[in-house]
Amino acid sequence: MTLTINPLTQQPSWHALDAHYRDINAVHLRQLFADDPQRGTRFAVEAEGIYFDYSKNRITEETIRLLLGLAESSGLCERIDAMFHGDKINITEGRAVLHVALRATRNQSFMVDGKNVTPVVHEVLDKMTRFSHGVTSGQWKGYSGKPIRNIINIGIGGSDLGPVMAFEALRHYSRRDMTFRFISNVDGTDFAEATRDLCADETLFIISSKTFTTQETMTNAHSARQWVVQTLKDEVAVARHFVAVSTNAGEVARFGIDTANMFGFWDWVGGRYSMDSAIGLSTMLAIGPENFQSLLGGFRAMDEHFRTAPFARNLPVLMGLLSVWYTNFFGAQTMAVLPYDQYLKRFPAYLQQLTMESNGKHVTVNGTTVDYQTSPIIWGEPGTNGQHSFYQLIHQGTKLIPCDFIGFCRSLNPLGPHHDLLMANLFAQTEALAFGKTVEEVRTEGTPDWLAPHRAFEGNRPTNTILVEQLTPETLGKLVALYEHSVFTQGTIWQIDSFDQWGVELGKVLAKRIQPELSRGKEPQLQHDSSTNELIQRYRIAAGPGKMEELS
Ligand code: F6P
Repeated sequence: MTLTINPLTQQPSWHALDAHYRDINAVHLRQLFADDPQRGTRFAVEAEGIYFDYSKNRITEETIRLLLGLAESSGLCERIDAMFHGDKINITEGRAVLHVALRATRNQSFMVDGKNVTPVVHEVLDKMTRFSHGVTSGQWKGYSGKPIRNIINIGIGGSDLGPVMAFEALRHYSRRDMTFRFISNVDGTDFAEATRDLCADETLFIISSKTFTTQETMTNAHSARQWVVQTLKDEVAVARHFVAVSTNAGEVARFGIDTANMFGFWDWVGGRYSMDSAIGLSTMLAIGPENFQSLLGGFRAMDEHFRTAPFARNLPVLMGLLSVWYTNFFGAQTMAVLPYDQYLKRFPAYLQQLTMESNGKHVTVNGTTVDYQTSPIIWGEPGTNGQHSFYQLIHQGTKLIPCDFIGFCRSLNPLGPHHDLLMANLFAQTEALAFGKTVEEVRTEGTPDWLAPHRAFEGNRPTNTILVEQLTPETLGKLVALYEHSVFTQGTIWQIDSFDQWGVELGKVLAKRIQPELSRGKEPQLQHDSSTNELIQRYRIAAGPGKMEELS
């Protein structure tokens, strides 16, 4: 199926931005702030408890006017409507994209194929709630009659990153009398280290996989099954120590999990958009159903803002457009997300999948190859650790790296001067990146001429600052939805299908082909390229005979 849309680079709004870029590209943020004493508040929006300061970007009011024009001519308004109406905007898979329905209230309605899906969403949420109460109250017992003390989520990609990120982000709100772990990598080390100090009779595995066929997850799930059965010496134990989160009831049953203990979701929820579906079961177990509802409420508030706020004051739209501005006009290849909160340490990793699996595409919904850049590479670490590692390059390197700084006004762990110091660093970094320090200033401080260029900071490095009162389940929901919809905005401008992921398929297929070839016993003839053949040969020799047979 192809769509008829005007190629992006032929749109007048694109040409206007291109011309404007040439005017503005040499202008320094020092100048922009000097020209307009109100700039710091003029380019800031507060919505849903999030203060978004985008004044330290290389933009003028004209830039924003032109970017908003691009959003209009790209049909962003219509696309948002289409998503919320359950249209099949994931065209390559013929699916609706309705993660917004996951956070609907009981009386809202979201239609897929003429059917309101809100009732089934709440059925699953209710089932998760009952289950969570059962486990945390000790009513749900392991095979040997002991209550569950350890929860291990086994999943990968969207079935792991959301759960891990949410657990780490909301650890403050989590039960401290239970252990939560996450296994994702097919590397046996992940499994071994996650289980080595746990007792199987107190451990519950949540096998999270939309498809229930993902090789890494199923391999880990089978090892978990073996661990439980070997320890408890009875196949029957599986029913008390395994539950599943999936869209594939057939495979869940085949694995041996009672489908009464399966928590469903639907093909209109993409893996990377699923942390607030049943994939969030480990999150609910950790923080409790009430906090989980607050998390959903946060998502919902941002959805509503995205759907209804005028684009000029719409946080995800502005964020998405700024990303387009730097990616397509300034040639920025990467963007850093720098949360000044230790609890958000996995947030950049979560955003990597959300952003790059969504918008790392080079073919438009029309089937043509793009003649412009799409998704930036997303990376980051919590402040202040990054400051002592890679910030040097952001300040004085040769690459332009727009950054999102995220900070909270109130710490969840007030401790002497710590929080003031943390936030002072955040504010200082955005100031230093924007304004820098000229060679003259450095010389005036007494630095010798030869050293001055090394100590000078060019500045003019763009940043967004996202300031929130406190990290709570609700504010986390808002932050995640903010990025989800920013990604949507970018994908719409770039005319790509942000909801498929065909680029992950080839590697999976080739790995399946190579796996039996590693079997030293049979040593089948290798028919790859000379590099792959040699690598496999070396592995066969070094790994020793019989290893694969033992495992299979
Ligand atoms: O291989 C990529 C991917 O399909 C992701 O999009 C997804 O989040 C992940 O694998 C896990 O898939 P599943 O939940 O079906 O195991």
